[in-house]
Amino acid sequence: MLLEWLEARLMPAAPEARRLGAVDELVAVRARAKRLSRAWSDHVAKAREAVLRVAEKTPGRGLVVVLGSGWLLEVPLEALAARFDRVLLVDLVVPRAVRAQARTLGNVDWRVWDVTGVHGALAAHPKVAPAVADPAPLPPEALEADLVVSSNMLSQLPMSPRIWMDRHGLPRATQDAVAEALIRAHLTALGQCLGRGRGTVCLLSDFEREERDSAMTGGAVRYDLLHGVRPRVDGPRWWWSLAPEGEEGKTLSVRHKVLCGVLETDPYSS
Ligand SMILES: C[S@@+](CC[C@H](N)C(=O)[O-])C[C@H]1O[C@@H](n2cnc3c(N)ncnc32)[C@H](O)[C@@H]1O
Repeated sequence: MLLEWLEARLMPAAPEARRLGAVDELVAVRARAKRLSRAWSDHVAKAREAVLRVAEKTPGRGLVVVLGSGWLLEVPLEALAARFDRVLLVDLVVPRAVRAQARTLGNVDWRVWDVTGVHGALAAHPKVAPAVADPAPLPPEALEADLVVSSNMLSQLPMSPRIWMDRHGLPRATQDAVAEALIRAHLTALGQCLGRGRGTVCLLSDFEREERDSAMTGGAVRYDLLHGVRPRVDGPRWWWSLAPEGEEGKTLSVRHKVLCGVLETDPYSS
């Protein structure tokens, strides 16, 4: 716990990302990934494999933009750097270890960027629901890229904004509306990257949560992680054992259903 606290304090990050809790979240993701490396290994392998499969089918080999690069758990960075002339990693927070890895590969850059565009407004006016731009603002390179990978961030986009709005007393219905708008706006923005039929978009995202309590009778309880929005993706689906028994509760196990593949031209349905 102390180590995580220290790691978060030392992480290079924009003040808004820190205030909204995104830095703490990212540090917690790595701690959990380490703790649960065995349980997560199947998901990590499938995610990397599915991203690579899309990369191999992408005709252009100029630029790949990875949105939500995080700790590069699900990103086959070396293979992407070998296949494309240039790789751009994009995240709200880019840890030092990732920056160092980028430097060693030579053709990999990184960019700190809020792909929702709402963090600044939320930090400045905590009691006001932010206006969500649709399409969401992506780095300009994404529109020119041969391949854009949205790397397991879609369901996470509302997380810090939601916790922040909750803490500042915004009603649940407002939080839900903002969350759904953020998800739609990201998919619309990804749809723009398919523009002129040149780019390919690979969407990796969890979309359903299943909670099972072995001490209770009755079946599992399922939750929609994408607020009713359904991305149209051609690719595999699998279960990610996110929290086996003991992680979130003694008798509780949690898994998420994940999809990964090529985003279709009409990127989502409701
Ligand atoms: C579940 S993690 C993805 C992990 C990553 N794909 C990996 O391989 O390590 C979600 C990522 O989305 C990033 N993220 C969340 N909200 C963001 C935003 N508004 N703009 C940019 N990145 C964001 C987080 O910082 C985090 O790295």
